[in-house]
Amino acid sequence: MSEETEHASWKRTHYAGALRPAHEGSEVVLCGWVQKTRDMGHLIFVDIRDREGLAQAVFQTDRPELMEEAKRLRNESVVGVRGRVRRRSAVNPDLPTGEVEVEASALRVFAPSKLPPFAIVDPPQASEELRFKYRYLDLRRPKMQRQIRLRHDAALAVRNYLNRNGFLEIETPILANPTPEGARDYLVPSRISKGRFYALPQSPQQFKQTLMIAGFDRYFQIVRCFRDEDLRADRQPEFTQIDIEMSFPEREEFFELNEGLMEAIFALSGRTIGRPFVRLTYAEAMEKYGSDKPDLRVPLEMRDLTATVRDIASDVIRGALAAGAELKGLLVPGAASMSRGQLDKLGEKAKALGAKGLFWIKKQNGWKSSLKLSEADFDKVWASLGGAENDLALFIADARLAALKTLGEIRRTWPGDESARKEMLRFVWVTDFPLFEWSEEEQRPVSMHPPFTAPAAGDLPLLETDPARVRAQAYDLVLNGVEVGGGSVRIHDRDLQRRIFKVLGLSEAETEEKFGYFLEALSFGAPPHGGIAFGFDRLVMLLAGEESIREVIPFPKTTSALDLMTGSPSAVDERQLSDLGLKIK
Ligand code: AMO
Repeated sequence: MSEETEHASWKRTHYAGALRPAHEGSEVVLCGWVQKTRDMGHLIFVDIRDREGLAQAVFQTDRPELMEEAKRLRNESVVGVRGRVRRRSAVNPDLPTGEVEVEASALRVFAPSKLPPFAIVDPPQASEELRFKYRYLDLRRPKMQRQIRLRHDAALAVRNYLNRNGFLEIETPILANPTPEGARDYLVPSRISKGRFYALPQSPQQFKQTLMIAGFDRYFQIVRCFRDEDLRADRQPEFTQIDIEMSFPEREEFFELNEGLMEAIFALSGRTIGRPFVRLTYAEAMEKYGSDKPDLRVPLEMRDLTATVRDIASDVIRGALAAGAELKGLLVPGAASMSRGQLDKLGEKAKALGAKGLFWIKKQNGWKSSLKLSEADFDKVWASLGGAENDLALFIADARLAALKTLGEIRRTWPGDESARKEMLRFVWVTDFPLFEWSEEEQRPVSMHPPFTAPAAGDLPLLETDPARVRAQAYDLVLNGVEVGGGSVRIHDRDLQRRIFKVLGLSEAETEEKFGYFLEALSFGAPPHGGIAFGFDRLVMLLAGEESIREVIPFPKTTSALDLMTGSPSAVDERQLSDLGLKIK
């Protein structure tokens, strides 16, 4: 056979995973990996895997040479199998291709494989470390193939949706300047301008605002961002945002547009989502759920009882309130049967979270409680919680935020029907964040959001006098307790932007150095504008029902920011350093 015909004859005709009874009688060529071989003596079954799935090829005694070759096949070798599709005698109902098999008439080994360090099966049997080191093998698993494809489908859905709504995808630089998103920058030394550095963008924030000033009106980008911060299940040092900005935004139109985007993405999982999304102000979210990213799948809410208990006859409570504490309560309907041991465990949990302790009351054939109260006082507390017979209530008395956060964490982790929760998609917009946070460390207000966020118009007079009370026109989108997006209406007025930098404690010189070009741009006719960025990895993680974004990123880094496959970050040689004018200390 000439090389050309040999090549042509091994052209794949079908994906293995796509074979169906309708192909019965067809001559096919499959190309893929050997999942496994089973030697039955008179027959050899070889499972061929490709990105669409798995099909069974059969080698029989009527072709003894071929059978010998098949016998020698090692798992994960890359092969071509030619043959005719026929119905199986024993159907495998677990496989989409389970009704058919290929009666092999030719076999070609394109590449043999060494013994893989782990079997290519779902669920994975190897440690995460080993999976990451041999990521190309790990990615061969059907589940990883599905998830990476889901990521592709989601990106496509985003592009189609935003394109339909008049947004243009525009690229922005990766070699950029530091962006004030609150994490550390990854720096890239410049060879030509020695001693100077680019910063990899923590987000394209200033560029996208500049694009609005440039008149593009509606921008988006599926864009890589870089942040040198502590890593965890939903954080990677490089991650992807769906970054959006628009000019002349109207609040309702903007929320609707983004809700439509979520609908377009989650339609991929065949699930419909309730619209419009719930909206909570930051203050409400903190009071009811003790978190600015509340998980609304947990059907419990906290109440403030400070006023209710102001004059009840309990020394403990009085003492705490006198010391400035507030009392927050959490009613758990029907949980009065919780045992003393379980309640003690919750108390320990509260302590581990930093609270001094946890009080509880239950109503079940009378009152039981860790607090000594009169009948009338029990009634009073119960009435303000809306409690009933067989309910349990938990209380924390502490400084406001500490009490809210601790009880909020107990609420968030309250056990429920886990499989039902897995199916739920509970979106919530959290709005009206404070513009500044007081930094104990720096003894000055610091931005809670990027410093380009517009203050609420009504709060402008408070900027210098009472910055802590200024609210921002900022919003986060939270899904099942995960912050999936955040954005704001921006400042488009140069003088206001200068004022904000001043409140943040930046000197004229610092402002000029860091943001001079941007302030100048604002003085050439900047339209009112606003936007948002979604964490694409987090969205795909939730879409896939995964717990970590590492499961939906093809080549993720470990929690120590290492790439175990390529070994990055790696050492560089002296010459490279000297070219850059650098020396390792
Ligand atoms: P923000 O900093 O809130 O806003 O980021 C937007 C969204 O990006 C995701 N995200 C991350 N995902 C994975 N790993 C990380 N390390 C990580 N950090 C953030 C989150 C987050 O909600 N420029 C603004 C947006 C704007 O105002 O338009 C910004 O970057 O899901």
